[in-house]
Amino acid sequence: MSMQFPPFVVRRVHCDLPIVQGGMGVGVSLAPLAGAVAREGGMGTVSSACLDRLVSRRIGREVGAREAAAIEVAEAKRLSRGRGAVAMNVMVAIQGAYADSVLGALDGGVDAIVSGAGLPLSLPSVVAGHPRADEVALIPIVSSARALRVLGKRWTAAGRRPDAVVVEGPLAGGHLGWKTAEAVEDPAHRLEVLLDEVLAEARRQGGIPVIAAGGIFDRADMEAMLFRGAAAVQLGTRFLATEESSASPAYKRAVVASSAQDVEVAMEPGSPCGLPFRVLRSSTMYRLAAGGSLRVRCDKGYLRGPNGCLAVREQGRYFCICNGLLSSAGYNPGEEPPLYTVGANAPRVDRILPVAELMAELVGAKPSTLPQAVNA
Ligand SMILES: Cc1cc2nc3c(=O)[nH]c(=O)nc-3n(C[C@H](O)[C@H](O)[C@H](O)COP(=O)(O)O)c2cc1C
Repeated sequence: MSMQFPPFVVRRVHCDLPIVQGGMGVGVSLAPLAGAVAREGGMGTVSSACLDRLVSRRIGREVGAREAAAIEVAEAKRLSRGRGAVAMNVMVAIQGAYADSVLGALDGGVDAIVSGAGLPLSLPSVVAGHPRADEVALIPIVSSARALRVLGKRWTAAGRRPDAVVVEGPLAGGHLGWKTAEAVEDPAHRLEVLLDEVLAEARRQGGIPVIAAGGIFDRADMEAMLFRGAAAVQLGTRFLATEESSASPAYKRAVVASSAQDVEVAMEPGSPCGLPFRVLRSSTMYRLAAGGSLRVRCDKGYLRGPNGCLAVREQGRYFCICNGLLSSAGYNPGEEPPLYTVGANAPRVDRILPVAELMAELVGAKPSTLPQAVNA
């Protein structure tokens, strides 16, 4: 039985389709992708990771994190032609630029802030002083009901509650919300199990809409999540392999060419964020790190703490995600080897397609028959 898809509505977000394109840093989900998804009636997400460098290079003028976020979000909104919604993904792990990225996104007219890679406990207080604080939807990413419980308590004390919550399961791309690779594989952490648990906690907190993410590939997966109670689904890997994503052509080709043996949940060598990180083994930076010949020099510093970056202090144990991911989005590709992150479904991707076609495939329509679809 196939279903009619309900709209996704929270605060000022009103999307005809319950499809969220997940934030993909560094530089994969920028305005072209987020704007195209919104234009097709979904929620497109700009990633704030390293955005200052990417935008500065593009516009030929040096901008900080706040201005970069404002510029990119405003551009995504322009491309959306007033349809769908535009969110900004801000990673807790990139502390130095966290508040500026959130505030800049608000300046640029963002509809929602989606925040994970750590628990976004401070998000309500970061937005509180901004004139658009009451308009923007705040959407944390969690990988357990416990995390939502902790977050709910802290946010209530700050006078907010999540407008929606993303529950991200172990098949997702990027960083994964567990401490070990074994925990990622644990059947107790399958998305279906997590979704049921998070839905129960979301109901306890007054009925927070839940967005399911991680391993959703096609319409059948989408329907399964919505039947189970999700208000929307979030997809990353499928959108990585679209024409509008800003991943380098070589990155997209590597996704299409990948097989199951190429996909690895990397721990050591791993990400200096300290979380499992799913990669394609074929990416040069991963191969160099695994072979012991990667020398990390921290010249970007997004993850630098008081003692510098972990990847520099403990050479051989980590790869350099700042440079590896920037390179994968076409930033200084000749200077640093690329690092390709993907979801577990990457081997199922067999071609690069336009966003309109992917969205039509997901809802089972021809592109021109989608609600409000535009043949760009
Ligand atoms: C290339 C890539 C980069 C990602 N980067 C981020 C990120 O910067 N922040 C984040 O919260 N999630 C990130 N993710 C996770 C996605 O937003 C999404 O939740 C996840 O990939 C969904 O699983 P799927 O890829 O199986 O669809 C990334 C995923 C991919 C594939």
